Amino acid sequence: MDPEKFCDEAVEFLSQYTDGKAVIAVSGGVDSTVAAVLGQRAYGDKLIGIYVNTGYMRKDESEYVGNMLKDLGLNSMVIDASERFYSALEGVIEPEEKRKIIGETFIRVFEEEAHKIGAEYLIQGTIAPDWIESGGGLRDVIKSHHNVGGLPEKMGLKLIEPLRDIYKDEVRVVAEHLGIAVAQRQPFPGPGLAIRIIGEATRERADIVRECCYIVETELEKGAEEGLMEIPWQYFAVLLPVKSVGVQGDLRAYGTTVVVRAVQSLDGMTAAYSKIPHEVLDRISMRITNTLADKVNRVVFDITNKPPGTIEWE
Ligand code: XMP
Repeated sequence: MDPEKFCDEAVEFLSQYTDGKAVIAVSGGVDSTVAAVLGQRAYGDKLIGIYVNTGYMRKDESEYVGNMLKDLGLNSMVIDASERFYSALEGVIEPEEKRKIIGETFIRVFEEEAHKIGAEYLIQGTIAPDWIESGGGLRDVIKSHHNVGGLPEKMGLKLIEPLRDIYKDEVRVVAEHLGIAVAQRQPFPGPGLAIRIIGEATRERADIVRECCYIVETELEKGAEEGLMEIPWQYFAVLLPVKSVGVQGDLRAYGTTVVVRAVQSLDGMTAAYSKIPHEVLDRISMRITNTLADKVNRVVFDITNKPPGTIEWE
């Protein structure tokens, strides 16, 4: 693809809808950041980027994204809605229900802010796999992706999706072209850590998986820096609702299980599990069980490709 041509066409497409103000959900991911920069070119200050802290974001993410948006010179604001998300997901276990509730709560928070701003349009960084896997094409629904399936039918904003026809690797090419710092950042799903907590996504469990994801990320990045391995395409931790018996000191312990997931992929449509050296897996396992000693006592490594698995566990 020719990124310059793509950007020109996207800005031209967006310019058809600049009769009112627009809002965009900025998550710090490459998709929404590219959409925001293109949006800014069409709308200027009439575009407001809204970052919602859902409570299921990565460690230190709000600060990181806040700074990045400032650097990009985007008109933006940060909303902490974590309590609202935690209570909306109380008692919810079924993955599709979780996704729908998160998508809906997300859009409601947006609608409220957009209403205050007086916006008419909502720009989203939805890319092709998001809607193809959500049943937008000819296939059955695999997962209702947050950007699409979670959208309530009667949203009070008009939806614009400038990246709808392109894939992740192409978004990265565009991001590099636009000089965006997060161009090579690993993907992060719209519903966030909630879909990496199998079972109820409580605040306490969100805190556990957040710390475990942070450990997996930092240890793999360190392993790659040391030349022990290549950095995977995507890498994170999943918290299982499975407890197992272990020992802590001389005592029997009964703790939670954490999965290490790391894959190589091009566009997320298919994936192969990463062959991580045992030395690095060892460090991850020790650091997780030391840091969360009273909570996690077992770490396992996922050796499933996509298909038959998916990258995320929900
Ligand atoms: P799966 O788990 O379906 O994931 O193999 C493929 C890629 O998509 C990401 N993913 C999402 N991205 N909203 C998104 O924006 C979502 O609801 C969502 N669910 C999964 C996933 O992290 C992987 O990169």
